[in-house]
Amino acid sequence: MKGKEATMRIHEEVRKMPVSPIRTWTSRLHDLSPRAELTLGEPPQITDSRIIEAAKTALDQGLTHYPPAAGLQSLRQELAKRERQLRGWTIHPHQVLVTDGAQEALAVCCLALLNPGDEVLISDPGYPGTRSVISLASAVPVACAADEHLQLDITRMERLISVRTRAIIVASPNNPTGQVLSAEALNQLGMLAENYDLALIVDAAYEQLSWQPLNFKVLRPYRHRVIFIGSFSKTYAMTGWRLGWISAPRRWEAALLKTHQALVSGVAGFVQQAACTALTLPAESWRQEVKEQCEAAWQRLNAIGLSCPCPGGGFYCFPAIPANAESSEHFALQLAERAGVAVLPGTLFGQRGEKHVRLSVGVRRETLQWALDQLEMFVKAGG
Ligand SMILES: Cc1ncc(COP(=O)(O)O)c(C=O)c1O
Repeated sequence: MKGKEATMRIHEEVRKMPVSPIRTWTSRLHDLSPRAELTLGEPPQITDSRIIEAAKTALDQGLTHYPPAAGLQSLRQELAKRERQLRGWTIHPHQVLVTDGAQEALAVCCLALLNPGDEVLISDPGYPGTRSVISLASAVPVACAADEHLQLDITRMERLISVRTRAIIVASPNNPTGQVLSAEALNQLGMLAENYDLALIVDAAYEQLSWQPLNFKVLRPYRHRVIFIGSFSKTYAMTGWRLGWISAPRRWEAALLKTHQALVSGVAGFVQQAACTALTLPAESWRQEVKEQCEAAWQRLNAIGLSCPCPGGGFYCFPAIPANAESSEHFALQLAERAGVAVLPGTLFGQRGEKHVRLSVGVRRETLQWALDQLEMFVKAGG
C-alpha cells in the first residue's frame, strides 16, 4: 500500500517519461565493450585551451557570485550581434536569454508558453529531449513522420494541426538525420505558424556546423512569433559547460525570464565569461572536419547498400538498415556484440526511425574508417 501511495505522488508525465533513452542505450552498448563507439552526440576533442583559460581568469577575478538571471550583459550583447547577422532582423540584447544548454532553452520555452493539453508539432525522427520537455509542461508532442527521403513533411504537418496546437518545434540541421530545412520549407513553416497563430521554435544547436545554407532569413516576415535556440555544446566542444541561449520576440521576454529564473536562477558567471571568448574563435576547421567525415560516411554507407540521406550539417548519418533486419534495436545490439561497433537504434528518435540507426561520425578518422569496415563485413555476412 505504501509503495502505491508513493507512486501516486509522482507527476504523471514524469512517471511515464523514460530515463534518457540515448544515455540508457549508450551505456548498454558500452557494456558490450565495442571497439568503436559512434553513439553520443558530442565532439571528441576537449574545449579549446583559450576558452578554458578565460574561465580560469574569470574565476581568479572573482566571478563566483550569483550571475544576472538573464545572463552577463557582455555575452547577451555579443549573442544579439550574432543573431542579428544570422537572422537579418533587429534583435536587442534584452531579447537574448542565456540558458543552461539548448536543453534548458527548450524546457524554458515549453514551460513558459504551453498550457496543459496544448499540442506541439515536432518532427519524427527528431531529438528526443524535445519530447520530454513538452511532456514536462503537461503538453502533448504530436510527431510528424518525415517523408520517404527523411525530409520534414509540411503537408502532413498541416493535417496534424488541431484547435489545441500552440507551437511547432523543428531543428535545422536536424538530429539524427542532418537534414537542413530549405528556404521553401522554412517559409511554409512560417506561413503555417502565421495562419494558425502558433509559435515557431527553431532549434539551431548545430547552426555553426552546417555546410548547407540555413536560410533562416526567410523567417523575417514571421519574426514576431519565431524563437531561436542556440548552443555552445557542439560548435565549441563545450557539452560539459552547459551553455546555450534563446532569442525571442519581446512579447515573450518576461515569461521566458521568469521561467528560467524559477528553474535555474542563472548560468555560472565564469562559464558565461568564457563563452565570450568562445564567440571570438572560428568554427570553420571543426565544421570542415565534420563535413568531410559526414560525406565520407554517407558515401560509404550508400556503397554498402545502406541507403542514407546526405547530411547538410551536424555530425550524424542516419542510414536505413538491411530490409531483412529484425528491428533497429536488434541490429544495433548485434552490431555492437558481433562487430564491435556501437550505433544508436533509430527508434530512440521516434517511430519513423525504425529500420534506421544513427552514427555519430565526429570521431577520429581511423575509428570511423574501422567502424565502417566492420559494418560492411557485418552487413555482407547477413547482419
Ligand atoms: C537538436 C538538439 N537540440 C538540443 C540539444 C541539447 O544540447 P545542449 O547540450 O546545448 O543542451 C541537442 C543535443 O544533442 C540536440 O541534438
